[in-house]
Amino acid sequence: MLKRRTILRNALLCAVMGTAVATLPRHAQAAAPSLKIGIIGAGDVAQTLGGLLIKAGHPVMLSARNVQEAQSAAAELGTLASAGTPNDAANFGDVVILAVPYKAMPSVGHALAPLLHGKTIIDATNAYWFRDGNLARQANTQGIGLLSQSYFPGASLVRAFNSIDMAVLRSEAFRSAPRLAVPIAGDNAIAVQTVQNLATQMGFDSVLTGNLASATLFQSGHPGFEVKEDTNGLKRALGL
Ligand SMILES: NC(=O)c1ccc[n+]([C@@H]2O[C@H](COP(=O)([O-])OP(=O)(O)OC[C@H]3O[C@@H](n4cnc5c(N)ncnc54)[C@H](OP(=O)(O)O)[C@@H]3O)[C@@H](O)[C@H]2O)c1
Repeated sequence: MLKRRTILRNALLCAVMGTAVATLPRHAQAAAPSLKIGIIGAGDVAQTLGGLLIKAGHPVMLSARNVQEAQSAAAELGTLASAGTPNDAANFGDVVILAVPYKAMPSVGHALAPLLHGKTIIDATNAYWFRDGNLARQANTQGIGLLSQSYFPGASLVRAFNSIDMAVLRSEAFRSAPRLAVPIAGDNAIAVQTVQNLATQMGFDSVLTGNLASATLFQSGHPGFEVKEDTNGLKRALGL
């Protein structure tokens, strides 16, 4: 039931918001329907993406194993922010963002995949050998998008917001045109559209690289990683 409701809500959201949101003036964009966003993590990525989503009018729940850390981070983000356990955030979100070190993905997937069935996941994580060990090697050989999706069967995982430093996202959101462009990859068209709409509302353009396998183009160590360009520059860097 939850799954069906979430899918319908995402489909409705796409229909209502559509790509036309990108061309609306900001005051009109703010009137777009809000989506509840659960974030697994309460660190730099969670606070940055959470802050931008709150500015766009979406209620956000941060989470961490140390709930106090999530509570103090949420307190900085204002009244649309709340805090809870990772389970709480997974249940709360129509869309759930993964903002944890990659080495946590197997345990996070094991604990939360049943709660995320049918939902859209934004995977903003990166895998580094010095922090994440063997998983980073696996992400490199298998492709990080497909590896991440394997931990969340039944969810629609979209890779986004992983390739640019959060300090850059904070300072470049809503810059004057041409906007900073973020690369996005995913297998489910509705989920991808939802994430592209959110990126627009957060103050960025986006470049869709294709399915989840194409997320290798902008994973760590690949040409689209840490590219701070507008749409044309990002497409050039990605070879698109
Ligand atoms: N910082 C950037 O500029 C940036 C940019 C793009 C992508 N990324 C990637 O995004 C991810 C997060 O980066 P960050 O800079 O936000 O890291 P961070 O500041 O270290 O925060 C990580 C958060 O994850 C939580 N966490 C760790 N293990 C967990 C688990 N098993 N279950 C639930 N929560 C867990 C931590 O809290 P607890 O330990 O209390 O659970 C903490 O709140 C990483 O994969 C990173 O490579 C970072």
